[in-house]
Parts: sequence; structure tokens; C-alpha cells
Amino acid sequence: MLHTNLDINEKGNLTFAGYDTVELAKEYKTPLYLLDEERIREKCRTYLGAMKKHFGEGSTALYASKALSLKEIYRIAKEEGMSVDVVSGGEIYTAKTAGFPMENVYFHGNNKTDDEIEYAIECGIGYFVADCREELIAINSFAQKKNIVQKIILRLTPGIDTHTYEAVRTGQVDSKFGTAIETGQAIEITEFALSLSNISLEGFHCHVGSQVFDGQTFCDSADIMLDYIAFVKEKLGYEAKILNLGGGYGVRYVESDPHLDIEKSIGEVSVHIKKKCSESGIDMPKILMEPGRSIVADAGLTLYSVGSVKTITGYKSYVAIDGGMTDNPRYALYKSAYSSIIANKAKEEADFCCAIAGKCCESGDLIAEDIMLQKPERGDILAVMVTGAYNYSMSSNYNRIPRPPVVMLSKEGSRVVVKRESYEDVAKNDI
Ligand code: LLP
Repeated sequence: MLHTNLDINEKGNLTFAGYDTVELAKEYKTPLYLLDEERIREKCRTYLGAMKKHFGEGSTALYASKALSLKEIYRIAKEEGMSVDVVSGGEIYTAKTAGFPMENVYFHGNNKTDDEIEYAIECGIGYFVADCREELIAINSFAQKKNIVQKIILRLTPGIDTHTYEAVRTGQVDSKFGTAIETGQAIEITEFALSLSNISLEGFHCHVGSQVFDGQTFCDSADIMLDYIAFVKEKLGYEAKILNLGGGYGVRYVESDPHLDIEKSIGEVSVHIKKKCSESGIDMPKILMEPGRSIVADAGLTLYSVGSVKTITGYKSYVAIDGGMTDNPRYALYKSAYSSIIANKAKEEADFCCAIAGKCCESGDLIAEDIMLQKPERGDILAVMVTGAYNYSMSSNYNRIPRPPVVMLSKEGSRVVVKRESYEDVAKNDI
């Protein structure tokens, strides 16, 4: 199957993380998000081990928690020794209330509000990944009020165009994120950051895109960033201690996606970086990477119940489920491909071509089109695979549909880590 945590048992039911998914659907009802705890931990260890082995002590991996932000994930990240990347006051709050150590948190985002900056400083956040001049001024002034020196990293755009979908391309010069090196604005903002008394510039950050399979992308962005670090050293006498290369390693959503050996790819990137540092006459900074998707994506699976099966004579068939764009908006937004299976008929032949439709009042509410499924009927359980990243975190209450619960599966048993929303939850802020 697509990933090693998926299988089919003797009843012909799909299993996930060793659990019969049809039984889980009965126990917890649908729609239902499932998470494989062991898989998340394995991925954290792969990254942490590879970063330490190839780049040495001090270099590490941060979990980009926008991919999946809930308290239990921060607890797991803490236990595994990961640092985390957060992008809003809400993510800071979730991490903090889960007991995550604030000194290991990096606060990203292209437009942090004054309230968020103040809150982050109050919480004792480790690093800001500062995006622009206005933000530097605000961080410096709140830090001054608190009488502290706040560590920051500056986000720069290296001018790299990745081969991925447009919504997640971020490294090109024309971007809402960071400051461009190519236009000469990066050196201006670096000089400005160094002039501020309550800010300590620790290094530089870039993130060029998401769902990237080619390690060469990281080598290319590292080349530009290291050239920049050498240039800053020569021009301003400042030597960066940290280079954060961002996240972005891709995951297999469908059989045609490539297999990626993250450990091997990080090894290759490290050989490249070490060579480049020695050619440029700089000491290798601490290297950080911040994967999100590749930590949690294949640790997730969503279960739905099939409702109607509608075949429009001469056109196509629609299989409607009890969830849709509210729990997984990625097809509606990016036409992202997913693999699906009728969990209670997993051994049967997939010879039914259809589109999977959600229950929202809009035609674009689809999870897939032109896919092959086992013959579906009302009451069947549909499993959509590899939904751990950017599903729960991007979910909504459109049409006042309550969010599904998140159930964590481990060797010790299954447990609810986010409760199913009720109708009262959906209306709780209405006056
Ligand atoms: N670091 C920064 C600064 C980022 O902006 C991102 C993702 C990451 C790390 C993690 O990237 P990853 O390893 O997860 O690819 N909603 C979109 C993905 C948006 C990604 C935004 N930034 C999706 O569903 O595909």
C-alpha cells in the first residue's frame, strides 16, 4: 500500500496503524480524523537524527506546526526534543498551554500584529523570524519595555522558484514574505536590524516552497544564502550564527508520487553546504530545517460514511460523504490529489470511476475527481489517506458543520485528542 502503516486485514477491512478502520468508524462515528502516534515520533527522530549526524550539534529540526496544530502534537514534539515553528498568537497559545518550552519556539509570519508581538515576548518566545522593517521596530520597542534583548532571525527571499503549486511558492523575489536579496533590500534591513539595541540578530531564514521532492532545491537556496552571509561578513563584519533553510520536503499522496529518503537527502545537502562554506571562507552556521507536512501527513487518515451515490446518465458518478471541504479544503483550493478506498471493501476491485463530493452547498466541494473506488453504497466507510497535514489545521465551520474529532492511535490504545464539535460549539460566540 501507499505507506507502511496501511494494510488490509483478514475481514477485508483497511487497517491503519494496526487498527481496523471500520471498527474505529463504529466506535467514534464519522467523519473522523485519525493520527498514528508512532509515525509522528518516527518522523521527528528521522529529522533530528539526520540534522545532528550531518550538520553536528546545535543544528536541528523545528516542526512547522501550521501543518497540524493541537495540544497533543506539541506534547509529542516536546518529548521528542523538536523545536517548533508557530505563525500566530493562537499557535503560541496552543503550544504554551500544552506545556511546550517557549525558548524552543520560533515565531514566523509576514504580518505579526502588535498584540501578537507583545504576547510572544510576554511568553518568553525563543526567536522571532522577523519579516520586515515595521516588525523589527515593534519587536525592538516591546523588548525595550520589558528590558530584554530579543533574539531574532531575518527572513530573506533568495529568488528561487520551486517547481510546486503557486499557493506554496515562497522563495521568489515577488513574494509577500521576507526581504529580497537580489534587490539590495536585504542588506539594508540587515544593517537596520544590527542597529537596534534590544534585538540580537542571530542569523537568516528562507523557505522556498512546499511539497518539494528534489534536495537540490535546498542546495540552491543554501548557495544563495551562504553567499549572502559571506557578503554581510565582508561588508558589515557580522557573521551569522544560524541559517534556517525552511521546510518543504514532499510526501507521497498517490502511488505516482516519488519515494523520498529524507535522511539521505539531508546528507547530500550537508555535503553541499560544507563545501560551499569552505569555498566562501565562512564557518558553517548552525543549520535549521522546519518540516511540517513530512512530519504529520502520512500519520493521518480521514474516515467518512458514504451517503448518496448518484450516477448522472451519460456523465459521471458522484459519491457523497458526510464531510468534505470543511475538513479537507485542499482539493477545492489546490486540486491536490488524494488516495481513497472503501475501507469495508478494501480487498474488492476498484472498478467504479467517480468524483467524491462533500456535503457543503457548493459544487466546488469535492475531495477527488476521476478516481477509481470499490463499488460504493450508502453506509460504506470511505478512507482518505495521508490527511495528517493541512487538513484539520485548515478546516472550517462553513455551513455550520461541526469539525470532526481527532483520535490518536498508539500501541497503548486509541484516545480522543480533539473532541468532536457540537452544534453548541459552532454557535458559541454568537450573541
Ligand atoms: N516554514 C515556513 C516558513 C513555511 O511557510 C512553511 C509552510 C513550512 C516551514 C512548512 O512547510 P512544509 O514542510 O509543511 O511543506 N496549506 C498548504 C501548505 C502551505 C505551506 C505554508 N508554509 C497545503 O495544504 O499544501
